[in-house]
Amino acid sequence: MQMIASISVRSALAAVLALLSTNAVARPQTRQQHVKARDSNELVQPVYQALPLGSVKPQGWLKEQLELSANGLAGNLFNFYRFVKDSQWLGGNSEYSDLHESAGYWFNGLVPLSFGLDDARLKSQVKTFMDYVLGHQQDDGWIGPETTPQTRGLWGRCYIMLGLMADSSETDRIVDAMHRYIELVHSMLQNNFTGLIAKPVHIPLQWLYENHPKNNSDLIWETMELMIQGSTTFGVDWRNFFVEGTFPEVVYAPRSQSYPWLWTHGVNLAEAIYRTSHDEALKTQTRTAIDLVQKYHTSLAGTIIGDEAMTDNNPSRGAELCTSTELMFSLAWIYQYLADNDIADWAELTAFNAFPGQIWSDWWSHQYVQQENQPCCTVNHPQGYSKFLANSFVGTEDGGIAHVFLSPGSVSTHLGNNEVTISVDTNYPFGMDLSYSISADDDFKFYVRIPGWANSSSTARGGDSDGDVFLTNTGLHQFHVPKGQSAISISLQTEPRIIERANNTAAVYYGPLLYSLALESNETTRDPVAYNMGYIDPASTTAQTHDHVVETTDLWNIAIDPSQIKVASSGTTSKLADPIWAFGAPPLELRVAATEIEWPILFDTPADPPLDPQAKGKPFAARFVPFASAKVHMAHLPKLELETVDLDA
Ligand SMILES: *[C@@H]1O[C@H](CO)[C@@H](O)[C@H](O)[C@H]1NC(C)=O
Ligand SMILES: *[C@@H]1O[C@H](CO)[C@@H](O)[C@H](O)[C@H]1NC(C)=O
Ligand SMILES: *[C@@H]1O[C@H](CO)[C@@H](O)[C@H](O)[C@H]1NC(C)=O
Ligand SMILES: *[C@@H]1O[C@H](CO)[C@@H](O)[C@H](O)[C@H]1NC(C)=O
Ligand SMILES: *[C@@H]1O[C@H](CO)[C@@H](O)[C@H](O)[C@H]1NC(C)=O
Repeated sequence: MQMIASISVRSALAAVLALLSTNAVARPQTRQQHVKARDSNELVQPVYQALPLGSVKPQGWLKEQLELSANGLAGNLFNFYRFVKDSQWLGGNSEYSDLHESAGYWFNGLVPLSFGLDDARLKSQVKTFMDYVLGHQQDDGWIGPETTPQTRGLWGRCYIMLGLMADSSETDRIVDAMHRYIELVHSMLQNNFTGLIAKPVHIPLQWLYENHPKNNSDLIWETMELMIQGSTTFGVDWRNFFVEGTFPEVVYAPRSQSYPWLWTHGVNLAEAIYRTSHDEALKTQTRTAIDLVQKYHTSLAGTIIGDEAMTDNNPSRGAELCTSTELMFSLAWIYQYLADNDIADWAELTAFNAFPGQIWSDWWSHQYVQQENQPCCTVNHPQGYSKFLANSFVGTEDGGIAHVFLSPGSVSTHLGNNEVTISVDTNYPFGMDLSYSISADDDFKFYVRIPGWANSSSTARGGDSDGDVFLTNTGLHQFHVPKGQSAISISLQTEPRIIERANNTAAVYYGPLLYSLALESNETTRDPVAYNMGYIDPASTTAQTHDHVVETTDLWNIAIDPSQIKVASSGTTSKLADPIWAFGAPPLELRVAATEIEWPILFDTPADPPLDPQAKGKPFAARFVPFASAKVHMAHLPKLELETVDLDA
């Protein structure tokens, strides 16, 4: 478990393509006004509308996680971390790369975190940063510290814009600054795509175009087109990449063409698959992109395998924390456009497995690369859960509301003139029951997303539901909620599932959680060491920043018999432990029939799973716990048929 303080240049680049890492919240609620003026250039509209930032508040374990984040690294980088505190964006000297992106990443995560928690201390960090940046906008409209054409890259501004558009506290000032900036960008791009890193950053432009176009619609539209043209000119047209037959299935057997680095880079991929534009064909292709990534490069815990270039799904391969962070947001965003239930399931899979599995339970340290079998993102990780929260409730096309990521929270918003407050009491994903308390001035439709893994014994009560769950074609259950106070509930039912992978291997799931062998381990905590084992500037650390080394001497080399699984503890409705993602904290456990096998270690990590595993000794009932709580992971295991094991033992 490696800590924070050092960000390598690679991880900086890794994070490069957060092209849609925006706050989904800020999406157009007022588009009609503009569409009238310019029908021909209408943007594709989402099926579900994100709600204004701050209207969804966390509860339960998710609130505790966000508070840990606020009291941990995310909420303290501003005070001690030189790539934020001493960033050139704030008049300082520290940048980890020429992209000048670290402060922008931080800002992009802090805005939703501060609004989600309604935290005055964090809001004042956001305000201080914004005041400085907008106060130092240059005369020609440039936002940021760079003054020469050689140093002025558009990319580093992406996150700044994403943060700005999400902050509804000073819209006029933000919109004015963005217009001045876009006019400059337009002229730069017209001049041989000056400043473009071939990753079009459209979301802030789309937001401006739909919500605050002023008299600049044509210019904004052209700027978006120039970005695409520029990418094509530079040989990185994502439309040519997400095509079956071209998309690399595995990079061990590469096709004869070579791919630009941007394409095969895991984080870039996570950030790229959510690009949505004005073109319906691109919307269809977005679905294809999801399918291709899912089929060839998705890890069992829900992230994209690639360390840092993407690879096949071999469990000795890893993924950066940045990848799951960006992917969660990408999936939330795409889900709002496509409304396909499996995409929301995938977002939850990432949010409850890959992402928390890479963060130390106190939120002061994180792991750069994680594998599914193994005994950067310092500035980017704060956006993970805060945007997941913001996207957990959405507006539906018929003017209702849907709870789509089933974590605990509440929402207060207006549906037209109907003021609605919905609060959900649940331990999900550590329990399968959800109880809603609703108050509304008028009748409305409320929906709850039923995950794809829930079985038909699941129930819905309250509103006009009498027990059975009925799914719409998008996987939502509909409640007709009357005005006044109401209580409704959902109880999900499911059984353990197996996912099979190449080379006769399998992984075990129960609900949205992947399970990993429970390995007792020793933790050693020490002062941070740089990723290359070099010197770390003490100015980049604080008393709470540590490296954690977690080692196990338990038996890890096992094969499992997936036909013998028992749910030993299926969750709870009472108060959960805090922090919840610590070893032993989640109230869920499985027992799986297992046996010891020969399995060598290679480069300090389990070698490829043996193709022909041989059982050693007597089979036994192995304890399995939620993947993200097990800091040493053994989750992708060889299969064997074993004699019957007493799973109650
Ligand atoms: C335009 O930019 C490309 C790539 O940066 C460069 O190779 C080319 O010389 C430039 N063309 C002109 C006319 O400046
Ligand atoms: C648009 O342009 C017109 C004429 O130039 C001007 O009167 C008007 O104020 C502008 N509107 C906005 C929103 O800037
Ligand atoms: C399957 O096993 C072979 C041989 O050990 C290995 O090269 C390959 O990467 C494995 N594939 C996966 C997806 O694990
Ligand atoms: C659904 O899962 C529950 C376990 O939670 C099980 O008791 C029930 O039989 C399953 N129902 C169906 C229809 O498979
Ligand atoms: C923890 O470390 C001690 C001392 O090195 C060792 O004896 C013990 O086996 C270790 N336990 C685990 C679970 O790794």
